[in-house]
Amino acid sequence: MQGGLVTVLLGALAISVVVQGLENGLARTPPMGWLAWERFRCNTDCENDPHNCISEQLFMTMADLLVSRGYSSLGYNVVSLDDCWPEHERDEQGKLQADSKRFPSGIPALADYMHKKGLYFGIYEDYGNYTCGGYPGILGHLKTDADTFAEWGVDYVKLDGCYADPKDMDQGYPDFGQFLNATNRPMVYSCSWPDYQLASGMTPNWTSIIATCNLWRNFDDIQDSWASVASIINYYGDNQDDIAVNAGPGHWNDPDMLIIGNYGLSYEQSKAQMAMWAIFAAPLLMSVDLRSIDPKYEAILQNKDVIAVNQDPLGIQGRRISKENNIEMWTRPISPSHGDDHSYAVAVLSQRTDGTPTAVTLTLKSLGLTSADGYHVTDLFDNYSLGVVHPDDQVKLHVNPTGVVLLRCLLASAL
Ligand code: GLA
Repeated sequence: MQGGLVTVLLGALAISVVVQGLENGLARTPPMGWLAWERFRCNTDCENDPHNCISEQLFMTMADLLVSRGYSSLGYNVVSLDDCWPEHERDEQGKLQADSKRFPSGIPALADYMHKKGLYFGIYEDYGNYTCGGYPGILGHLKTDADTFAEWGVDYVKLDGCYADPKDMDQGYPDFGQFLNATNRPMVYSCSWPDYQLASGMTPNWTSIIATCNLWRNFDDIQDSWASVASIINYYGDNQDDIAVNAGPGHWNDPDMLIIGNYGLSYEQSKAQMAMWAIFAAPLLMSVDLRSIDPKYEAILQNKDVIAVNQDPLGIQGRRISKENNIEMWTRPISPSHGDDHSYAVAVLSQRTDGTPTAVTLTLKSLGLTSADGYHVTDLFDNYSLGVVHPDDQVKLHVNPTGVVLLRCLLASAL
């Protein structure tokens, strides 16, 4: 009896040691939702551009569409403000206040609107004197802002890092995280901390970042072009030894928003972004006008099989296995597993621009997939099965210029 009790106590102790740090229990799989910035920027001109300005109406409309167009049932369940939502001044108590013309109902009402639709509500602030857009920053108000966000019903906080000294962030981001935790309201914490430190030549303290943040940016802002998406993919490949290990349930690398359905990506490039964000175990934060998105781009964002790869419960970030003649092989271990063997998602990415599909022949073994019983292989965009493929079998594919083939390889011995 007594021995049993000791074991239980030791068990509890072991758990409390492992879960120290953030472990707010949130974001066990990468967050999914809609974020305003990439598409709608800091458009505050509601007089001349009422349908596109940063206003409560925009966020309510996007929430309506997330639900009515079926995005929320696929997991896209956070609607998040970005910069340019507040007044330029705090109130007399030092609290942030939403711009009264553009958010006449106030933030609590907007959060409530999301909650009634079964969605979560996200907000934006900045660990600095100002946000990047010049609105009030958090310095001097860490506790007030954490308490205000909790009081308002916020579920997700993005904390940017303009107008701050990156050296202060090792202290400041954890401090704000503790104020968030102290509110007892679960709030996903999205940090820009390592991005600003890397940009200033510092080496981030990943242990502290993992213990503090549910997700974090580590590279440039995404822009509406394939060049931007490709630069992010290259960064994730070139730096994978430093960053891939940091990802896992509750703490994710954030390569920035999905720009699928906007102006800059072709259909092939859009599939490539979706596939690579699935390989990266990246947050899927769409920044697109859901009122006018073309159905074929909507279908990419709503591809259930690709979303399932992204949301795989093992939470292991994928890696680039090879890059030759601008054809890249990426793999990500996914479930189900059997012993030490995993299933895998395999992305064959072409960064070629010579305008004809490239013929690629590969074996699963060359990618590290060695289970003798083989793998049930499915192409997740073209939705066809290649049947059971053994490690030495030759797989012949065609990959379109700046396009991708995404394969799901389910471990036969686990099925
Ligand atoms: C920074 C961030 C972006 C966005 C803008 C807003 O550039 O990295 O994601 O939040 O600020 O001004």
